Amino acid sequence: MSHKVINDLVVKAAQGKPTPSVPVWFMRQAGRSLPEYRAVRKRGSILDTIKDPHLSAEITLQPVRRYGVDAAILYSDIIVPAFAIGFGIEVAEGKGPVVQQPFRREDDLARLRDLEPETDTSYVLETIKILTEELKVPLIGFAGAPFTVASYLIEGGPSRSYIKTKSLMRSNPTLWHKLMERLSQLAISSLGSQISAGASMYQLFDSWAGILSPAEYRAMVAPHSNAVFRALEDKNVPSIHFGVGTTGLLDQMASSGSTAVGVDDRISLEEANRLTGGKVALQGNLDPVNILIGQDIAIAESKKVLASSAKSVGYIFNLGHGVLPESDPGILKSVVDLVHDQGAAIRENAAQSQLGVQ
Ligand code: CP3
Repeated sequence: MSHKVINDLVVKAAQGKPTPSVPVWFMRQAGRSLPEYRAVRKRGSILDTIKDPHLSAEITLQPVRRYGVDAAILYSDIIVPAFAIGFGIEVAEGKGPVVQQPFRREDDLARLRDLEPETDTSYVLETIKILTEELKVPLIGFAGAPFTVASYLIEGGPSRSYIKTKSLMRSNPTLWHKLMERLSQLAISSLGSQISAGASMYQLFDSWAGILSPAEYRAMVAPHSNAVFRALEDKNVPSIHFGVGTTGLLDQMASSGSTAVGVDDRISLEEANRLTGGKVALQGNLDPVNILIGQDIAIAESKKVLASSAKSVGYIFNLGHGVLPESDPGILKSVVDLVHDQGAAIRENAAQSQLGVQ
């Protein structure tokens, strides 16, 4: 471990090892659901906040202090590498990534030069160095997977139907694969630098891969995401492969070279374990909407998630997708306490009763 990590439960679980208690963190645990975030967040682009290492480190630490979660996730964004090489991408408040001149043609490849992390994203590495001095839990680095980043570059912003992305993929596969190779290189450089600076593990966010069929994912996306995991193998850190709507892709995502997969809330963890043949650790998968419904539902549903995880040796509690901005931090805290206090026992009981049934 690269820094003074005292609690390494998340690392162990992501490696598929048993843990004495169930570790928990939340995607988007930092951010608008926290009043202390809204208090320090400067006006203007999130990218300016990310460029301020002391502020970004503080924002990363806020949920760790408040919730006692077992991991910190770097406060940054999946578009940072493309932004840093000057592709012309920004984040619009309340909307998400927007691109001035979306990716359309062969010529546009020239706008995607190699990332030089030490100079292009020195602020990210500085944030990680500050964090490794402070943290007693692992720091999770991350990058956008080639497909999800490509979808933003091609669509020019968030999309519902991904018409332009699918058009480019299906009408010009040669250009598609060149773009995906460039974007996997960006992810590899960025993640490699994050790990060297002190991140203990990483998550690859392929948030929108679930819009593809298993066959198209296999042909057009998997080779490029898998190249990211392969290139980082010698760093010897665990990794989580995450997407939404990925029921049909989960077996492929579990064979990508990552040590764990993130599961969304559309299937049970038991089903996810069956689909992945138990060959990787699992992370997930409480529906983030349960946090909005109220305390009793959030706790009852969290217990079901824990019971459903019983067959997975390596298991990290998380939501099926990010914390919604309207979430009550008090309810998130009570979920963390439940997972820590009762998680291991709920898993044990569920494992026993499943044995009894067989
Ligand atoms: O706590 C954390 O999870 C760490 C920080 C983090 C952010 N973005 C900060 C952020 C992480 C891991 C991301 C990843 C990210 N960014 C993804 C993949 C994860 C996912 O949700 O599937 C995606 C698709 C993006 C692109 C992006 N950036 C979107 C869709 C948005 C939301 C736009 C909005 O305002 O609602 C952003 C902006 C963003 N990134 C915010 C945060 C906290 C909110 C805006 C702000 O505070 O100004």
